Amino acid sequence: MICSTAPGKIILFGEHFVVKGLPGIGMAVSSYAKACVEESDNDTVISRQLGLVYDKARGIGFGSGFDTIFRIIASMGCSKKARVYIDSSIFIGSGMGSSAASSAALAHALLRLCGLEPSKDTVSRIAFEAEKTIHGRPSGIDNTLATYGGLIYYRSGFFKRVEIRWPEEYVLLVVNTGINRETRIVVKDVLDLYERRRSVMEHIYRSAEELVEQALAKLREGDFESLGELMNINQGLLYTINVSCPECEEVIWLLRKNKALGAKLSGAGRGGVVIALYRKEDLGTVEKLFRRKSLVVKLDEQGARGVEDQ
Ligand code: MEV
Repeated sequence: MICSTAPGKIILFGEHFVVKGLPGIGMAVSSYAKACVEESDNDTVISRQLGLVYDKARGIGFGSGFDTIFRIIASMGCSKKARVYIDSSIFIGSGMGSSAASSAALAHALLRLCGLEPSKDTVSRIAFEAEKTIHGRPSGIDNTLATYGGLIYYRSGFFKRVEIRWPEEYVLLVVNTGINRETRIVVKDVLDLYERRRSVMEHIYRSAEELVEQALAKLREGDFESLGELMNINQGLLYTINVSCPECEEVIWLLRKNKALGAKLSGAGRGGVVIALYRKEDLGTVEKLFRRKSLVVKLDEQGARGVEDQ
C-alpha cells in the first residue's frame, strides 16, 4: 500500500472576505488525513469515519470530489484503478479543511501509485479542482494549506508563506461546536448578502482588509496580545455578515470569559470550529471544559507539515 498524509487548517483571519479577493491568513495544523491506495479492478474509497463514499462501478459518489480526482489522474495518463482507504483525525464538516486534506492526500498517493511525479503544485491543483466540485467557489486556501503546510497569507489566488516565530507562551485552542454545515451554502449566502447590501458591505469588507494587514504585522512582530484583540474584531465582522450562530457565540463568550485573548469562528462558520488565542498559563480549566471537543495547536518552527509520503 502507498500512503500519504495532509494536514487540516484553521483560518486565523479573513475567511469569506477572501472569496471576493481580499486578504486572509491561514495556518495548517497538526491534525492529519491519511490516504492509503492499492491497485484494484475498480476505483473505490472507504473512509474510516464515513464508510464507503465512492464506488465507480456502482455509481456511488458520482460527481463528488473523489470522482474529480480519479478523472484528473486518469487524464494524466494513469490507467490503474485503486482501492483507497482514508483515515482522518480532522473534525469533519467543521471548517478545518478535512475535505481538502483528504483530497490532497489522495491525489498525492494516487500520483505515486501511477508512477507520476507528486509535485506540490500538481497535488494542490488537483485538490483545488476537487474543492470546486465540493464547495462551488473556493478561494483555494484549503488545498494550498493542505499541500504546502505552514502559515500562509493569501489574496486573490496569490499565496505567500509567512515565516514567523510563534512565541512559546501562546497557544490556540480549537473547539468543535459539533454543528456541521455546507461551506458552499454559507459562501453563497454571504455573496448574496453582499449583492443585496453592496454599499454597506463595501465598508465592512474594507475593514476586513485593514484588519488582516494589521494582523500580519502583529504576527511578524510577535505581538500576540494585539492579535487577540484583532481576532475579536474579526469575529464581529463575521457576525455582521451573518455567518455566526448561537452555539458559536456561546462557545466564543465562554472562552472570552475564561481568559481568551481573542476568539472567533474559523472557516465557513454557522457551526464548525471556534479558535481562541491563549496564554499557555491561562489554558488550564478551559481546556477541561471542552475535553474531546477541543484541540490545542500552535505553529512550530516549520509549521504543520504539508502533504507527504507516510
Ligand atoms: C473556508 O475554509 C473559508 C471560506 O473563506 C471559503 C474559502 O475560502 O474557500 C469560507
